[in-house]
Amino acid sequence: MCGIVGYVGSKYYGPDVVINGLRRLEYRGYDSAGIAIRYNPGERTDAMYGNVIENWREKGGVDELYDSIPESVIWESNCVIGHTRWATHGVPSRRNAHPHTSMNRTITLVHNGIIENYETLRKKLIQEGYEFESQTDTEVLANWIEYMYNKIYSETPGDLELAVRLALKDVVGAYAILVISPETDNVIMAKKSSPLAIGIADDGFVIASDATPIVEYTKDVIYLEDEQIAVIENNSDIRITDLNAVEVDPVIERVDLDLEQIEKGGFDSFMMKEINEQPETIQNCIRGRLTDGLDQLMMGGIDPVMPQLLRANKIFIIACGTSWHAALTGKNMIEKLARIPVEVDYASEFRYKDPIIKSGDVVIGITQSGETADTKAAMEMARERGATLFGVVNVVGSSIARLADAGMYTHSGIEVGVASTKAFTGQVAAMALLAIKLGRQLGNINDDTYLRLKSSLKSIPAKVAKILSQTEDILAIADEYTDEKYHDFLYLARGHNFPIALEGALKLKEISYAHAEGYPAGEMKHGPIALIDENCPSVFILPNDKDYGKVISNMQEVKARSGKVLAIVNEGDELAETIADHVIKIPECEEIFMPLLTVIPLQLISYQIATARGKNVDKPRNLAKSVTVE
Ligand code: G6P
Repeated sequence: MCGIVGYVGSKYYGPDVVINGLRRLEYRGYDSAGIAIRYNPGERTDAMYGNVIENWREKGGVDELYDSIPESVIWESNCVIGHTRWATHGVPSRRNAHPHTSMNRTITLVHNGIIENYETLRKKLIQEGYEFESQTDTEVLANWIEYMYNKIYSETPGDLELAVRLALKDVVGAYAILVISPETDNVIMAKKSSPLAIGIADDGFVIASDATPIVEYTKDVIYLEDEQIAVIENNSDIRITDLNAVEVDPVIERVDLDLEQIEKGGFDSFMMKEINEQPETIQNCIRGRLTDGLDQLMMGGIDPVMPQLLRANKIFIIACGTSWHAALTGKNMIEKLARIPVEVDYASEFRYKDPIIKSGDVVIGITQSGETADTKAAMEMARERGATLFGVVNVVGSSIARLADAGMYTHSGIEVGVASTKAFTGQVAAMALLAIKLGRQLGNINDDTYLRLKSSLKSIPAKVAKILSQTEDILAIADEYTDEKYHDFLYLARGHNFPIALEGALKLKEISYAHAEGYPAGEMKHGPIALIDENCPSVFILPNDKDYGKVISNMQEVKARSGKVLAIVNEGDELAETIADHVIKIPECEEIFMPLLTVIPLQLISYQIATARGKNVDKPRNLAKSVTVE
């Protein structure tokens, strides 16, 4: 949550680099934005004898910020920092937007994360005579660094690096910060729990919360580790140390991400683009792993923990949001194929519930971003209790990818739309591979079933493409449900598709703000049925599986109460359309992989209802793509 961008180098295009970078990071938060430009002596008439920092902040997105900056501002600088915010402490407003400046204007910084002990630090600063302009924890941090800077001034004047180092020793919480000062040319950055990447370009450094603003300038990136501090000196040299000032050798990684991947590619939204990418992204996930014939699946990332997985008495899967729904599908597949008991938990619950983890247990964290604070903390806690950590992660090089003992990348490519689509199907495909691999190695899958499962999974990308070829028809059906009078929706399914009922409801809620609930169809009669009337439509997922007859009965119960019904069924189903108001027909596949198909029309339905209701599907209100706070 919150995006940080900075440029420090020999070129004077810093303001453009930072504004463009902030646009790419808006998925991390977009309720306010800001930019601080440092001018060297002589670059402005009032800056003859020292640096000057000008700070521009605005409520709203990066466009609002850019429009608010007067044309007279000198748009040239080789040192600029910027921020796009997702509010934690204090409402979205210009006052609370970053960059924040310390009371005596020695420190200007941008911050991603949460300073948990900010109230304690604030009280101490108030005793020292400090006053605050904003409600944020970040302003407290800026002042705390300034306080340290002044405290050491008589012995080490102008040592911003030491001031940051000392200040951070007192900080409890998560931070990625980028700090500048008019009193020094050095730029300081540091991180703990929140991500920070430093791109090394020919003409300087592009620093950001992830690699997306960087790849335009360089593919060489250093991912700062927790409790490391980096200092850029003379706009050209970088030095990295730990909190105790011990130098560390930076590891430079090559980032394989091209610009085209992060543009909209002709679609009117990232969400629609990403929905349409799914045949390819699911293929990318299974490619190279799903072998032919009876050969073993090729999943090298798993090898280091295969013994632990195979002898696990229990597997825990932890995740948040949409990834939690992928965890539920993973549980169903692993229990069915590998016969290993699986417990699925919300990471935010797991980390605080004192779970019974035994040494040798395996904890799988599923996460698109690889940065979700709750998932990361839950995994760290599990490691302390002796668990082996396995990550199913999309963002390469992310914190959780690096934390896990082993794992699988989902290879879905960058997902910009806040509401997850292709990352979800990537996660489900990855869990399918894992379930087959475990089941086969444990001897629970005979040759015939093995071949059948592999061939069914292989057929999924083409079947997803077939569903997407009906997009216009599906959107037309969704149009029947866009009226605001439909304020509550029920999503009902059984068995393997119950997680998809939850995911369909979440998707609709997230982007259209209509209230929606996912329920096991059999549970409907124990409560939700009370909601049914002509303004509460039900979306039924009823593929042609063993539960079909039961779900049909549930559908009839809804129709008997004047409820409007939209049903997702398999091709060839003639019964459902005699009961439901609308049906969407999709191809068949193995029952356990059906979630990879049933979710596609639900994504399109949410898209259409949200769009028709005038909502921005890529940037739903109050949500953020990467939730790096608790
Ligand atoms: C946020 C996003 C969701 C996502 C969840 C978990 O709430 O808006 O789309 O499912 O975080 O994120 P992760 O990156 O861990 O999958």
